[in-house]
Amino acid sequence: MVLSQPQSMNNRTYKIIFMNRFIDRNTELDFLERKYDSQGSQLIILYGRKRVGKTELIKQFCKGKDSIYFLGDKRGTLLNLERFAEKAADHFDDVVPRVESFYNLSKYLLRQISDEKYIIVIDEFSYLIERDDTIPSVFQVIWDESLKGKDIMLILCGSSISMMVEGTLSVKITHLAS
Ligand SMILES: Nc1ncnc2c1ncn2[C@@H]1O[C@H](COP(=O)(O)OP(=O)(O)OP(=O)(O)O)[C@@H](O)[C@H]1O
Ligand SMILES: [Mg+2]
Repeated sequence: MVLSQPQSMNNRTYKIIFMNRFIDRNTELDFLERKYDSQGSQLIILYGRKRVGKTELIKQFCKGKDSIYFLGDKRGTLLNLERFAEKAADHFDDVVPRVESFYNLSKYLLRQISDEKYIIVIDEFSYLIERDDTIPSVFQVIWDESLKGKDIMLILCGSSISMMVEGTLSVKITHLAS
């Protein structure tokens, strides 16, 4: 399991926790709780091999916190966008917004969330990148222009390590094997 945070956010390189086997998730949960408690928006990249427990970790972490969870699939940007918009509308008990891009959708989410501390999770984010290589730059813009200055925790999760590392935003990573 690997957790990382883009270095550019505050000039610190975060430790990456890499595990092949797991017994408990206290280290990862502590990491996430610390980030959640710190001020301002946080961008977390979470990746690790299949069936290692990424989704379970996220679900456990989000328990009792205001959050929206979206599970990406391999059907491409438009269908994922549509499904995310439906999920968001259902979540906020609203009519489905007409959104043409993930940028529009992020604006919609921010309007719904207003100034609250909120967690937005996109699980299987690497599936989105797999079908559309503009996704990392789209999310870079979303992060820089609309989420960065708020109180949002954006968790992007995936199992294709190289895709998550090479494709996602401006991530700088060091490894800590344990
Ligand atoms: N901390 C844990 N302790 C025990 N079982 C766990 C733990 N975390 C996950 N599991 C179990 O391991 C299996 C895989 O977990 P999970 O779906 O969270 O993995 P994943 O990394 O998200 O997998 P994928 O990459 O396929 O999405 C599930 O059956 C889940 O219930
Ligand atoms: Mg999963």
